Amino acid sequence: MDKLSSLLQALNGSTPTSVPIWFMRQAGRSLPEYRDIKGSTPILDLLKNPEIVKTITLQPVSRHNVDAAILYSDIVLPLLVAGIDLRIEAGTGPKITEPFNTPNDTEKLNGDVVNSIPAKLDFVGEAVKLIVSEANVPLIGFAGGPFTLACYLIDGESSKTWSKTKSFMRTFPEAFSLLLNNLALLCAQFIRVQLLSGASVFQVFDSWVGVLDRCDFERFVVPSINAIRSSLSDFNQPMIYFGVNTSHLLDLMTSLDVDCIGIDWRISLTSAAESMNYNHSIQGNLDPSLLLSPFDVIKPIILQTLEEGMRIGGTNTKIGYIFNLGHGVLPETNPATITKTVELVHEFGRY
Ligand code: CP3
Repeated sequence: MDKLSSLLQALNGSTPTSVPIWFMRQAGRSLPEYRDIKGSTPILDLLKNPEIVKTITLQPVSRHNVDAAILYSDIVLPLLVAGIDLRIEAGTGPKITEPFNTPNDTEKLNGDVVNSIPAKLDFVGEAVKLIVSEANVPLIGFAGGPFTLACYLIDGESSKTWSKTKSFMRTFPEAFSLLLNNLALLCAQFIRVQLLSGASVFQVFDSWVGVLDRCDFERFVVPSINAIRSSLSDFNQPMIYFGVNTSHLLDLMTSLDVDCIGIDWRISLTSAAESMNYNHSIQGNLDPSLLLSPFDVIKPIILQTLEEGMRIGGTNTKIGYIFNLGHGVLPETNPATITKTVELVHEFGRY
């Protein structure tokens, strides 16, 4: 029972017995048992099979003893269901067949399209129900952030700078805001299905917002995240917001209507919490590449992060702390290192 609730306790500001730990991208390519199931089947085909989704989602829970499961799915799935032609290429990520170039293209995701989505997501709800009935830890649902989805729609494929998206944003600011608003509703529909089927928490992965300056983050992204929250106001499950390379944006995140902010690995947890005025629970933030080194080398760094997190969130504070990486697990990570990290955090993360 204790395990069932440590994540939720951290998110509602009470103190769990020990610090909850899970890893972004814990399901998937670092696990041999995942590679066995996947073989050469495209991920977007796997995602439509609830039994397979259940098995893959629970693999890291039984192997590593983490305190939460995260649904095996992908941020671009709702786009596909909304009729956007795309594929996911191994090693690079999503590829959009006809990227958006003009405001006219954004009509492909108008309000009618977005409203037709829930009926087409039955297979997601079914997978969530199967997982929840079997799991002994809470299930985290998720969606991509509207800006991050717009990056794929406009640039068409992964990019370091997302310069086509930023150029579209500056040339057609009104159409861009409208697109983000429709994407916010699409994300909310995807999350709604997961919450209705039993997910206990949800995380918005707004991975690429770090390419924006403060002004554009405030103008475009803040309203889009608050729109997700307000269209889910009939639910009380906690919401986590995460982006990469966000040190310059953290103080602006205090105006987000969310429960917890995921911290990128480039900043210390202490500086991050100070920037955010100790207003939100925090999650993070080991550098994922740290897990590629021998365990005795990284052990002191894990303990230092844990200690900082526990000083910020937990006993005698109004906010909570969740141990995680500062971005997703790298595919080449040795699973044994992940398991040892969980053991260490469970041993030393006692309040
Ligand atoms: O913890 C989990 O793994 C849960 C499932 C999950 C996946 N994608 C499965 C997946 C989650 C939470 C995501 C989110 C996601 N997808 C994000 C946000 C997180 C982040 O990393 O910033 C982004 C940007 C995507 C888009 C995407 N999908 C990328 C960049 C890739 C990787 C391409 C590659 O092969 O390097 C994907 C494909 C993908 N999504 C895989 C998995 C397990 C790999 C597919 C495979 O097994 O070949």
